[in-house]
Amino acid sequence: MAGAARARTLTRIRASEHEEAPMATDTLSVTDNRTGSEYEVPIVDGSIRATELRRIKVDEDDFGLMSYDPAFLNTASCRSAITFIDGDAGILRYRGYPIEQLAEESTYLETAYLLLFGELPTSGQLAEWADEITHHTFVHESMKRLMEAFRYDAHPMGMLVSSVAALSTFYPEAAQVGDPENRLLQAKRLIAKVPTLAAWAYRHSRGLPYVYPDNDLSFTANFLSMLFRMAEPRYAADPALERALEVLFVLHADHEQNCSASAMRSIGSSRVDPYSALAGAAAALYGPLHGGANEAVLRMLAEIGDVRRVPAYVERVKEGDFRLMGFGHRVYKNYDPRARIIKETADAVFAVTGRSPLLDVALELERIALEDEYFVSRKLYPNVDFYSGLIYEALGLPTAMFPVLFAIPRTAGWLAQWLEGVDDPEQKIARPRQVYVGEDERDYTPVRDRGALVPA
Ligand code: ACO
Repeated sequence: MAGAARARTLTRIRASEHEEAPMATDTLSVTDNRTGSEYEVPIVDGSIRATELRRIKVDEDDFGLMSYDPAFLNTASCRSAITFIDGDAGILRYRGYPIEQLAEESTYLETAYLLLFGELPTSGQLAEWADEITHHTFVHESMKRLMEAFRYDAHPMGMLVSSVAALSTFYPEAAQVGDPENRLLQAKRLIAKVPTLAAWAYRHSRGLPYVYPDNDLSFTANFLSMLFRMAEPRYAADPALERALEVLFVLHADHEQNCSASAMRSIGSSRVDPYSALAGAAAALYGPLHGGANEAVLRMLAEIGDVRRVPAYVERVKEGDFRLMGFGHRVYKNYDPRARIIKETADAVFAVTGRSPLLDVALELERIALEDEYFVSRKLYPNVDFYSGLIYEALGLPTAMFPVLFAIPRTAGWLAQWLEGVDDPEQKIARPRQVYVGEDERDYTPVRDRGALVPA
């Protein structure tokens, strides 16, 4: 077809009305200047299908045009009905509900239900859901021995990743990912057991005995109990801290197709069990560019140390010496809506724990940055990590636990993404293409003929 003009008449499905309607204008006209051929590509929901480009060829033997998109800066990998983000407007919604309303009114378990099932539960459904999760919080005693085998100074995130993966060996039926009931059972187990493993990883790092779950407590109160209970028969969490943790868990429950959610979907697309997929997602979160930024914020605030040193620090940021940690976001080009809520939560926590001296440094840093042309023109605002580390520190947790505290609530989001992915008839095993830039075919040289020199 080289050189010949061609076009296709296209129709699209209107998603809102589910009716077919010819939308001749919702197309993209492409002219391939190599051949002069013309193509019409349908535009649906503001996107074109990358596979449409494969029709664009110089001749019949040509593989067809590909799109090259390192780090997926402009590629939608799925259609999703879970989380909506408008980064320019600073909007985050789960299943249509504004994050501000969920943080104000909801609990983590209710939010997890919403993410997984698409609707808020009735009071009866919520009670049943909370009961089911509560009764899956215990782990097999062998898991305890597995945790005990780690070195005394093992990073708790490494322990969490490994122990979540190990859970798959206790539930071999989890491999039946084609069975919806089975999938749901494993999802409940994961939401319930991840806090137990997380708390035990912390206890291990402190050399403290592991605390078993207390099924009479709420999700967050039980987690605090597993972290902090000593000799008392029952740990009584401060209600303000219990609520603060609840809010943090709601805020961190999902954030659409980020690095770890994409890992969850990608690993899950091989139809492996959800424990193995979730261990992979948690490993992605472990990285400093993803779940580790709040730790960096705390280090930065400690390094500044005093409000009077903030202006000089900001100058160095502007000179390009380093970045302001907890500022800027790939998607949000406005105040991260979660950062605003976390700031209020921090006040509630400090009222109980006492004010962190680093809070003043953080507030001054934010004040100066938000007035400065450098940050204003680049649309750099505080992100979710700017204040969350201060809260975790006030709760008495070491920085190594910060990504673990992120992974607990994100478990619900990862599972919602996984469930949507395995149920999506359009999905297949994830398998990106590459642009090969290596050597052309060449003949093998036996080692004896390659010389003995070690290149400098
Ligand atoms: N401090 C100072 N300057 C910054 C910052 C920052 N935190 N972030 C971006 N910039 C500047 C860049 O230098 C660049 O300036 P230039 O145009 O003069 O070169 C401009 O803003 C755009 O920066 P990009 O790197 O293109 O922005 P990108 O969207 O790729 O990066 C990121 C987003 C990685 C979050 C970045 O803002 C950053 O490094 N922030 C600090 C780390 C951090 O807080 N990460 C947590 C993110 S939230 C999460 O993962 C849960």
